[in-house]
Amino acid sequence: MNKEVRERSPLYRAVIAGYGSFAPEKKLTNEELAKMIDTSDEWITDRTGIKTRHITTDSESTAFLATEAAKKALAEAHLDAGELDLIIVATITPEMVFPSTASFVQRNLGAKKAWVFDLAAACSGFVYGLSIVQQFIESGRIKNALVIGAETLSKITNWSDRTSCILFGDGAGAVVLEKSEDGRKGIIYSNMFSDGDCWQALNCQAYGSRHPANKKLEDPKKIYMEIKGREVYQQAVRRIVEAVTDCLEHCGLSIDDINMVISHQMNARIIESAAKRLNLPDEKVFLNIAEYGNTSAASVPIAFNECVRSGKIKRGDIIIFVAFGAGLTWGANVIEF
Ligand code: UT7
Repeated sequence: MNKEVRERSPLYRAVIAGYGSFAPEKKLTNEELAKMIDTSDEWITDRTGIKTRHITTDSESTAFLATEAAKKALAEAHLDAGELDLIIVATITPEMVFPSTASFVQRNLGAKKAWVFDLAAACSGFVYGLSIVQQFIESGRIKNALVIGAETLSKITNWSDRTSCILFGDGAGAVVLEKSEDGRKGIIYSNMFSDGDCWQALNCQAYGSRHPANKKLEDPKKIYMEIKGREVYQQAVRRIVEAVTDCLEHCGLSIDDINMVISHQMNARIIESAAKRLNLPDEKVFLNIAEYGNTSAASVPIAFNECVRSGKIKRGDIIIFVAFGAGLTWGANVIEF
């Protein structure tokens, strides 16, 4: 690793002490979707790599999914919720307008000491969250934090729009980060980017202050997610390559030094295309989109959890998390696990 990065080694690092994920039991397969709209398993599989997705029932909310994932991460870290300093929930499908989803998670876990907030950076929310915690831990301000990505995208999906409804699913993933004085392990570097000029590429417009609930919507479809698939596709490949390249350059690492890249799972073709440009071999790219679809902020922590539990990464490995989504937003973290 780059000497400068080593020498910058702060007194403390944010180490991933626990991880967990949760997905609703109910699934919606491509075959089932093909009975609802004009599509086919073949089209969805070829264009996206998705085979099925998990979908919440009416009684399963974002805070519920987040809490279940958090409990697993806390158990893995052997940390009592009462000891938590900070809880961040990255989501674009919050429990309600306010209070934050994180407030409900705090209540559910009994994390009395923690200060909490939601982070709305869409698919990049979890990666942004890790970057924020990195700063607070490195400065010595906190000794631990819980970062959760949790989404119930099925609740803002237009199930009659075949260009978008095939893509999304529900779920949650969480990590517990702890302060460590071992300068080597932990989050080594993070980058974050955004471009508000492209907000129209991916959005859900109702019911914010521009389209408040007390005014009739001119277009009733504004309660659902809208995506400009082609535009997002091209930007996503470019931005993922940009974020990972910046990580490698900043840390003085090569692809050979990286054990695994865990990308936001938005489309297998986007990830494969970015991997090709980065000269990343297949075995260093984790894909679980076939089972989950795109779960926005939840996708990186769900993938990370599965990657560790399946033995594809182990303690000491150097991994990169990378995400891209609405905003537009994108970013990455380099972690010595
Ligand atoms: O996390 C960030 C959020 N993720 C995204 O926004 C997704 C990014 N974009 C994508 O993943 C891809 O652009 C899609 C999967 C959404 C679409 O794939 P594509 O290869 O870009 O297809 P396309 O939009 O260019 O459409 C090709 C054709 C069109 O028909 P014509 O005009 O060629 O006759 C579409 O009408 O495929 C048609 N099509 C479908 N056909 C069957 C669009 N959706 C479907 C569908 N089933 N579900």
